[in-house]
Amino acid sequence: MSKLELQNLNKTYTPKVIPVKDISLDVDEGEFLTLLGPSGCGKSTLLRLIAGLEPPTRGRVIINGRDVSRVGPGKRNIAMVFQSYALYPHMTVYENIAAGLKLRKMPSDEIQRRVSDVGDKLGLQHLMDRKPGQMSGGQRQRVALGRALVRQPDIFLLDEPLSNLDALLREQVRADLKQIFDQQQTPVVYVTHDQTEAMTLSSKVAVLYDGNLQQLAPPSEIYNRPANQFVAGFVGSPQMNLLTLNCDGNNAVLGDFRIPLPTLPTTPPQVVAGIRPEDVNLAKPDDRLAIQGRIFLVENLGMQNLISVRVKGSELRIRALLPTHQAWEGEDISLSIAPEAIHWFDIQTGDRIQTQHEVERVAPSLGLKTSTNSSVQSQHQYTNG
Ligand SMILES: Nc1ncnc2c1ncn2[C@@H]1O[C@H](COP(=O)(O)OP(=O)(O)OP(=O)(O)O)[C@@H](O)[C@H]1O
Ligand SMILES: [Mg+2]
Repeated sequence: MSKLELQNLNKTYTPKVIPVKDISLDVDEGEFLTLLGPSGCGKSTLLRLIAGLEPPTRGRVIINGRDVSRVGPGKRNIAMVFQSYALYPHMTVYENIAAGLKLRKMPSDEIQRRVSDVGDKLGLQHLMDRKPGQMSGGQRQRVALGRALVRQPDIFLLDEPLSNLDALLREQVRADLKQIFDQQQTPVVYVTHDQTEAMTLSSKVAVLYDGNLQQLAPPSEIYNRPANQFVAGFVGSPQMNLLTLNCDGNNAVLGDFRIPLPTLPTTPPQVVAGIRPEDVNLAKPDDRLAIQGRIFLVENLGMQNLISVRVKGSELRIRALLPTHQAWEGEDISLSIAPEAIHWFDIQTGDRIQTQHEVERVAPSLGLKTSTNSSVQSQHQYTNG
């Protein structure tokens, strides 16, 4: 049974550069954790702390119950895959995959067996005699992965392993990765700023911003119940509409329209309403909440159109994903939004306002805690696209 625990990890480079701030989380056997966040938020630094490539300023890294915070990377039994592949150019695929095992003086028949197993798994058998320079990016990426898999480590660490691949290849290798890691139980920590990778590969996602853990939850929870405005705006494409609205009694005011607020102890002067473009539809006569406006932009995404609408009676804009051929630039349109599809956020802290429905649904799936850092949230102004 392998397990990774991070306890109150901190990394301070300078008083102004603190890319890892008090991060605590666990990754159990069979779990695939993705560290997701924008460039510079501290993902690679956190991974390097887990690998032992850098010491933490404070806090502990525990692997299988052993505190390895001050143990060198060679003694942690972890395997790491980097964005750059880092293959030996003068060695064949076979030699590249076998190199780590040879260093550890493993018997050669065991090395052969392991390399052959991994070669089968990754579809590399016919490339074993090639050198990295004679292969495509996707093939090289699979060799780098093979070198990690063959080690049979306690933990896999991957830092943006797909970012050097073109879009189509990324999709293929992503699917390969999912199948490979679904078949094994070793905990995985995977770094990416690509939300599609995070959503498709992970059993849980840690969203990071400015060194802080914003939310730790399964992908569906992150998408359906983002813990704060940052997560709401970062996860989901096209981006969620985030509208700052004045409150009037039990309603939020959107131009000429009133949106019923969730039950709150006291009504704040303003709230932020989060509405995913995919939750906005063409209105039908019996819809509870319909909003009129004028379309000022139509973007053809192939399967659907992304339309931008200026809401009647206000300067606010709302974007909707609609089937193609349903809306045209310059047209007036009536849109419906199911009230239960609206996410509400506190204007001061950026934190999610739990609706009654959510409060009643107590324990989130998998028993994961959500984590937010309000003090950091309130320092930032989140914008909608
Ligand atoms: N050795 C270092 N000394 C000082 N600052 C550093 C060092 N390494 C990283 N940083 C800073 O720490 C912050 C986090 O860097 P990190 O590489 O962890 O970001 P990241 O989330 O992996 O970003 P990206 O998606 O661009 O790879 C950045 O502001 C970076 O400039
Ligand atoms: Mg990085």
